[in-house]
Amino acid sequence: MSLLIILALGWTVGIVKANSKGYIYANAGLAGKMFTENIVFESAAKNAPHCALVCNHHDSCMSFTFNHNICRGHAVLVTSNTTSVLAAGARSFYTEGKIRSCADRRTIDGQSGVRTLYTSLGSPLLVYCDQNTDNGGWTVFQRRQDGSVDFYRNWTEYQHMFGDLEGNFWLGLDALHMLTSSQSYELRVDLMTFSGTKGYATYSDFTISDSSDNYRLRFETFTGGNASDSLAYHNGMPFSTWDADHDHYHINCAAVRHGAWWYTGCANSNLNGRYKNSSVNGSDGVVWLNLDGVANSLKFSEMKMRPL
Ligand SMILES: *[C@@H]1O[C@H](CO)[C@@H](O)[C@H](O)[C@H]1NC(C)=O
Ligand SMILES: *[C@@H]1O[C@H](CO)[C@@H](O)[C@H](O)[C@H]1NC(C)=O
Ligand SMILES: *[C@@H]1O[C@H](CO)[C@@H](O)[C@H](O)[C@H]1NC(C)=O
Ligand SMILES: *[C@@H]1O[C@H](CO)[C@@H](O)[C@H](O)[C@H]1NC(C)=O
Ligand SMILES: *[C@@H]1O[C@H](CO)[C@@H](O)[C@H](O)[C@H]1NC(C)=O
Repeated sequence: MSLLIILALGWTVGIVKANSKGYIYANAGLAGKMFTENIVFESAAKNAPHCALVCNHHDSCMSFTFNHNICRGHAVLVTSNTTSVLAAGARSFYTEGKIRSCADRRTIDGQSGVRTLYTSLGSPLLVYCDQNTDNGGWTVFQRRQDGSVDFYRNWTEYQHMFGDLEGNFWLGLDALHMLTSSQSYELRVDLMTFSGTKGYATYSDFTISDSSDNYRLRFETFTGGNASDSLAYHNGMPFSTWDADHDHYHINCAAVRHGAWWYTGCANSNLNGRYKNSSVNGSDGVVWLNLDGVANSLKFSEMKMRPL
């Protein structure tokens, strides 16, 4: 098994540029520090996450450095300040090969934010990790916080990520299927009304099936939370968008509710609905019916999952 050191703290920041060879891929706090010990390979890579994958597949590679498309693997385990990595300020290292979830990531990095996961698909996946809520470890896959991103989108768009991982976004049905088919997950929904009332709901054994089954939602049971359950009605349903109607009703629920969801006939929850600027009563909004018993549109929603 190879060991992989992930020094990246958000890979859009801090590919360090300097004038000689060997640079740490790291955040700005490590700027300019070199790491040249025990180089076991050097190859081209598109970006630091790809470099990490190459390292991961190379038996004697235990860490990597990346700069300007040059990827170097190093046979050095970072265990103390005797290597320049720790001297440069790296906080920790990963010893089990791959970071598959935000729960794995929490073991080396307890901060919330945009992070890379190394998934069973073999290609790096950027996600938002919530390490604050209920002891952390959550991969956030949906967030609504203002109306700046349009969520009324077609089937193809819902298969993939859209929006901004730091703001309003949808991670994508393909990613949801891939993550939930490689590990057992619990699901959590965090909500807030325009008057500031917060609520949450959790579900066990959350899975999303593949595209041939239209990304069907399944979970075992509602496990609690003071937002009450508004998802059990949708358990077992395929996903629908306005241009792919898989609901059990004679109308197109995605179009009527102006959203995209596991509609039945039509919805008790509609978190991808139309973002409204106030708690207007309208079922086409961002709705979780049993939070307050009326279809008031919410100010905030986040959907997230964590390995069981
Ligand atoms: C390791 O190096 C860092 C940065 O130079 C320093 O702050 C820290 O005290 C060192 N730790 C040990 C155990 O020497
Ligand atoms: C879905 O929407 C995108 C963006 O508007 C568009 O480019 C694409 O052609 C649409 N796909 C289908 C199948 O309508
Ligand atoms: C629901 O629980 C959360 C988390 O414990 C808490 O922050 C929130 O205030 C609770 N909401 C209500 C309405 O009790
Ligand atoms: C919501 O508020 C924003 C910012 O004030 C504004 O740009 C937008 O048009 C409003 N949307 C609706 C649906 O009222
Ligand atoms: C909200 O709208 C529904 C359906 O139109 C209606 O039955 C209900 O009385 C309304 N509730 C409030 C508080 O206005």
